[in-house]
Amino acid sequence: MQEQDHRKALLDPIFTIIANSAKELGMDTYVIGGFVRDYLMDRGTPKDIDVVAVGSGIELARKVASNLPGKPKISVFKNFGTAMINHTGLELEFVGARKESYHRDSRKPMVEDGTLEEDQKRRDFTINALALSLNKADYGILLDPFDGLGDLNRKLIRTPLEPNITYSDDPLRMMRAIRFATQLGFKIHNESLQAITENKQRIKIISKERIVDELHKILGSAKPSVGFALMHKTGLLPYILPELKALQGIEEIEGQRHKDNFWHTLEVVDNIAKTTENVWLRWAALLHDIGKAPTKRFHKKIGWTFHGHEFVGSKMVYTLFKRLHMPLNEKMKFVQKMVRMSSRPIILSEDFVTDSAVRRLIFDAGDHVEDLMTLCEADITTKNPRKQQKYKRNFKLVRQKIEEVEERDHIRNFQPPISGEEIMKTFNLKPSREIGILKEAIKEAILEGVIPNEYSAAQKYMLQKGDEMGLIAKI
Ligand code: CTP
Repeated sequence: MQEQDHRKALLDPIFTIIANSAKELGMDTYVIGGFVRDYLMDRGTPKDIDVVAVGSGIELARKVASNLPGKPKISVFKNFGTAMINHTGLELEFVGARKESYHRDSRKPMVEDGTLEEDQKRRDFTINALALSLNKADYGILLDPFDGLGDLNRKLIRTPLEPNITYSDDPLRMMRAIRFATQLGFKIHNESLQAITENKQRIKIISKERIVDELHKILGSAKPSVGFALMHKTGLLPYILPELKALQGIEEIEGQRHKDNFWHTLEVVDNIAKTTENVWLRWAALLHDIGKAPTKRFHKKIGWTFHGHEFVGSKMVYTLFKRLHMPLNEKMKFVQKMVRMSSRPIILSEDFVTDSAVRRLIFDAGDHVEDLMTLCEADITTKNPRKQQKYKRNFKLVRQKIEEVEERDHIRNFQPPISGEEIMKTFNLKPSREIGILKEAIKEAILEGVIPNEYSAAQKYMLQKGDEMGLIAKI
């Protein structure tokens, strides 16, 4: 057992309160899990503190609450034997030590009380089983029966028990292993990887919400590709994101090959992780090519094509979000829009960039035009330095042009300079098709650059168009 003094991890007065409360109840108590791991790794301010009591966690939580100023409310989860207190933004979670897997989300029934070591054994990883004592005799001592500290130094995700047991206690741990490996830049122990591969289909019993939480954390990491590559390697990917799995592989017909769109996608996601923290934009990067699998065709003359993949892909985003019980809200619509528009700036940058094409891009992308450019820049994965430079230069030009055009024409959040009401009044019209036609004509004229985005020009244009349509203006 590793005996090290870590009293400095416990400087927050809350630990004294917990320790005194436990003493009043005559219980041994420890801080365990993420708090200890992150402290030892120097990972910044903790969001939650897990406390394990050799006795009733709920009773301890009640005592702590009664000793805290303001006597905060506690949330009790009786079935799981846990209780929570929100203390100045910190989540304190109390649980009694168990002999078997006890985690709140585990599908296993509640089991007998146990010792600290029995509890540590049933936790997911050695680095999450590290505990610090809150007891008078050995306050601040690290209790590490499975060499979690060694694994922290070796950067290794390893289970305290035989991995098959740990993963069947809670199959979500397969995703947690991959998520921690991605977040912390750790390797997963070989036996664990093997066990994940063997147990992969058990992920089906886990709720979609918990899986999505892990996906968010993987996508939020500095190098998300690590997680998706591990999901691919272990065979978890088809159970969770079959659309991505379908992108993997290179086909060759008559000597013509297309790129592997799965590995390309992972590069795009890593690229975008360097330029944005917006997890939804990262989702868009992950899904931007999913339409390529169902639209892939081979034509003798032109080779491989993926016609309309952006549109098909954006429809698939809906199905995917629905299947994973993700919110079908503005965030989803944003991801869909990014996927649908993902090739627009590329087409622009390949050609001479006209003002009208830029105006159309700003009109269609609206407030998300910068996000779209960020996605397209991340999409450059060519290994040819000359081409890479060229694409980057072109996108820079498109960005400049967007700024110039926007400053002059104010297309973003486009408001028609002439309202439907004004059209009705001018031509003495009742609500009718003509109004829509005229509005559309004015908008088109502005986007095409026929007239500036200004009232007087638009009014003149309306009169002229109305005249062409045989409408008579009231003077
Ligand atoms: N735990 C477990 N099995 C799970 C989930 C959690 O054994 N499926 C244990 C681990 O000891 C973990 C602790 O419960 O450290 C707290 O879980 P949680 O708050 O989900 O994770 P943290 O380790 O705190 O890490 P993070 O906050 O980054 O998720």
